[in-house]
Amino acid sequence: MHIFKKILVVLLIIFIVIQFIQPDRNKSVQVVPADVTKDVSVPENVQIILQAACYDCHSNNTNYPWYNYVQPVGWILANHIKHGKRDLNFSDFGSYPIRKQQSKLKAIADQIKDGEMPLYSYTIIHKKARLSKEQKVLITDWAQKAQDSLDKINP
Ligand code: HEC
Repeated sequence: MHIFKKILVVLLIIFIVIQFIQPDRNKSVQVVPADVTKDVSVPENVQIILQAACYDCHSNNTNYPWYNYVQPVGWILANHIKHGKRDLNFSDFGSYPIRKQQSKLKAIADQIKDGEMPLYSYTIIHKKARLSKEQKVLITDWAQKAQDSLDKINP
């Protein structure tokens, strides 16, 4: 029993110590001229879903509830943000070449249809990011329409 107590104490100390290693926050107060709404029209109901379900990892502004200040949860999220933004950043979408915008819109529809996004591990905690069937249809229809409108400029 004695050894278990020691292990518990060590784990507790490690847990406390890692709380002091906070990752950088993904926050920007800058007005973003390259936001996705620059080149593509985004209806309000779509925008609300994207903000609730995607923007934490795919924009320059993450919403941080309290548990994201607990490590290692915060580290895991920081890692998702790093990779998520590299692949798709809604705050920067308007600066992408049209070709890239088109392929990203297609990727958005595909990821939603396949149930790949939002990441499952994220939706366990972030209930607001769980998409209903109707919300999925809204997003995929929007992505398709936005793609069509870009196809007219750049077939
Ligand atoms: C918890 C963080 C997180 C959330 C929330 C999230 N994503 Fe992602 N997303 C990622 C990561 C990380 C990647 C990089 C690929 C991977 O690791 O699976 C990615 C990749 C993608 C890609 C692939 C881009 C490409 O070029 O192939 C698309 C599209 C995408 N996400 C769309 C979305 C949409 C739409 C939502 C909201 C409905 C969303 N994501 C929510 C983290 C997230």
